Amino acid sequence: MNTPVLSVDALSVEIPTRHGLLKPVDQVSWDIAKGEILGVVGESGAGKSMTGNAVIGLLDRPARISGGQVRLNGTRIDNLTPAQMRKVRGKQIGMVFQDPLTSLNPLLTIGDQLSETIETHLAVGRTEARKRAIAALDEVGIPAAKDRIDSYPFEFSGGMRQRVVIALALCAEPSLIIADEPTTALDVSVQAQVIALLKRICRERGAAVMLITHDMGVIAETADRVAVMYAGRLAEIGPVAQVLGAPRHPYTHGLMGATPLASKGRKRLAQIPGAMPRLGALPNGCAFHPRCPKAQDKCKSDPRPTVQDGAGRAACWFPMEDA
Ligand SMILES: Nc1ncnc2c1ncn2[C@@H]1O[C@H](COP(=O)(O)OP(=O)(O)OP(=O)(O)O)[C@@H](O)[C@H]1O
Ligand SMILES: [Mg+2]
Repeated sequence: MNTPVLSVDALSVEIPTRHGLLKPVDQVSWDIAKGEILGVVGESGAGKSMTGNAVIGLLDRPARISGGQVRLNGTRIDNLTPAQMRKVRGKQIGMVFQDPLTSLNPLLTIGDQLSETIETHLAVGRTEARKRAIAALDEVGIPAAKDRIDSYPFEFSGGMRQRVVIALALCAEPSLIIADEPTTALDVSVQAQVIALLKRICRERGAAVMLITHDMGVIAETADRVAVMYAGRLAEIGPVAQVLGAPRHPYTHGLMGATPLASKGRKRLAQIPGAMPRLGALPNGCAFHPRCPKAQDKCKSDPRPTVQDGAGRAACWFPMEDA
């Protein structure tokens, strides 16, 4: 079997607070293969960004990895020094965040930013780096890249800026891309274009992608597999068709609403009665049980680790039957 590009194994994150230890990420495990896009969904506060940040070594203090392992192409990266991790991030992992401006230096032209990254990571000279920077902008669909390369970030629209960020994330030829809500801040009209771009380029280059999003439409169109998180835990993971079409976990079932893929207009996650518990007040057993229509006594006392279910895994004592 091929080594996965990313392998997250029982990853846990903890935050020490005055009121005790919080666990925003609890024993999360998944692999992403070369050329594969894993969508990560879940309500606000489910731990999606925290998981992504743990993988790339960018947890904000006092949050820290408290257990598990992260492997990139078979090599552990969760125990590297900050300096080693910075190198891995620059070269092997590309990042795309919600706000393109957080990834761009406002004082440098986009050409300088791209060229610098290319020079550093691909060991080419300045002229060659500039040539490749223009090619990279071309590839992400910046019109007249040759003329725009000496512009500053503020001279671009939001959608064009995010294209530049994608070019920047890809120019060191990383094997893994982490994209955290990459289109949430963009106009609806350009969201689909940016997602299509990300998908096309990652497919062409065989990069593995962890795509965090609230948008089930994006998942349905883009991802190969989807991971559903709830209160820091993995509720369910599997091929998109299985998880969206025949969800096993009652939480996923609730998120999809009554008609999962039928209504094209409604792309956002459905509302489930009740709210996700605060991290400081997680119930015993399955964290979802207070909101779960199928909950029984066992669910109130015993947490369920994910178990193999069809082509995926689900963390539920009483999974949904096939429709
Ligand atoms: N410094 C902190 N102290 C305490 N709790 C924190 C801290 N930072 C984050 N959290 C909590 O960690 C949990 C996970 O947050 P995270 O940002 O990963 O959620 P998310 O799934 O990305 O949500 P969203 O969809 O809103 O981006 C949340 O409950 C959040 O309140
Ligand atoms: Mg987030």
